[in-house]
Amino acid sequence: MAFPITRLRRLRKNPILRDMISETHLELNDFIMPLFVCPGTNVNNPISSMPGNSQLSVDLLVEECKRIHDCGVSSVLLFGIPESKDEHGHVACSDDGIVQKAIRAIKDTLQNKLLIVADVCNCEYTTHGHCGTIVDGDVHNDLTLETLASQALSLAKAGADVIAPSDMMDGRVKRIRQILDENSLSNIPIMSYSAKYASGFYGPFREAAESAPKFGDRRSYQMNPANSDEAMREIALDIEEGADIVMVKPALSYLDIIYRAKHEFNIPVAAYNVSGEFSMVKAAGANGWIDEERIMMEVATSIKRAGADIIITYFAKEITAVLNR
Ligand code: PBG
Repeated sequence: MAFPITRLRRLRKNPILRDMISETHLELNDFIMPLFVCPGTNVNNPISSMPGNSQLSVDLLVEECKRIHDCGVSSVLLFGIPESKDEHGHVACSDDGIVQKAIRAIKDTLQNKLLIVADVCNCEYTTHGHCGTIVDGDVHNDLTLETLASQALSLAKAGADVIAPSDMMDGRVKRIRQILDENSLSNIPIMSYSAKYASGFYGPFREAAESAPKFGDRRSYQMNPANSDEAMREIALDIEEGADIVMVKPALSYLDIIYRAKHEFNIPVAAYNVSGEFSMVKAAGANGWIDEERIMMEVATSIKRAGADIIITYFAKEITAVLNR
């Protein structure tokens, strides 16, 4: 029945009613906060392009984790800035690696109150900044699977609750699942960066993680932003290989991919609202061009509405503060 019998504005007038019929609700446990851990003690290196975010040494990272937990954020995603790098990223496979140390320290202080997700990739740990071993000027897929697998194993042994490979090598979920299972870690879930695009939105992160490639770019392994069907193939393969959660990254320019992932597969979907997406909102907010808090909530709501069950965002602490108000 059309106008004038039907008037959709009728349900928009009263704010209580408006909230009652809201189709999308943000909740505290929707969010994962990414953090960067670096060597040393009492080190806090602010990341200039990502206001409010810093590289933190393990001691300060633990303090930050306590604050994050107090705000109501239930999970963190850890990235490491190592003391030294090597050609293959072997430094990331050491049980004394920077992220391994951070995981043990967080677990010592907060036990299981905070879910620790460990990013698995070589780009922060290689001298050339690519995500794997270079052969003939390109990342060699199958050789890289071995460093990724031993990094994942070491992180899981250190106490990571979830392993999150972000490298985009073919077959890495299967290889990681295999090594975890062989080592009695079959209960550790894999959250795979399944549809990860070769995106300009990662710019600020590469400053934060000191992981920019020294030559070329990542287009031979990350996805072409023009493709959607290919993302479904990536997701289908990761599920077949044993992924427990699939991820779409970045989030905002890829809401259609999140939507398709949620509707075409029967599996939890995570979305990564990446560094560039965060920095743009911060910069426009600082200039007074937008209402930062309002945009922050609108962005998160749209990612959830598109179908994401989990949102990885540098705004996690600020969003939960709003939700707790
Ligand atoms: C590393 C990795 C990247 C991000 C997460 N893991 C950067 C890249 O692929 O170059 C990006 C995160 C962000 O921009 O917030 N493999």
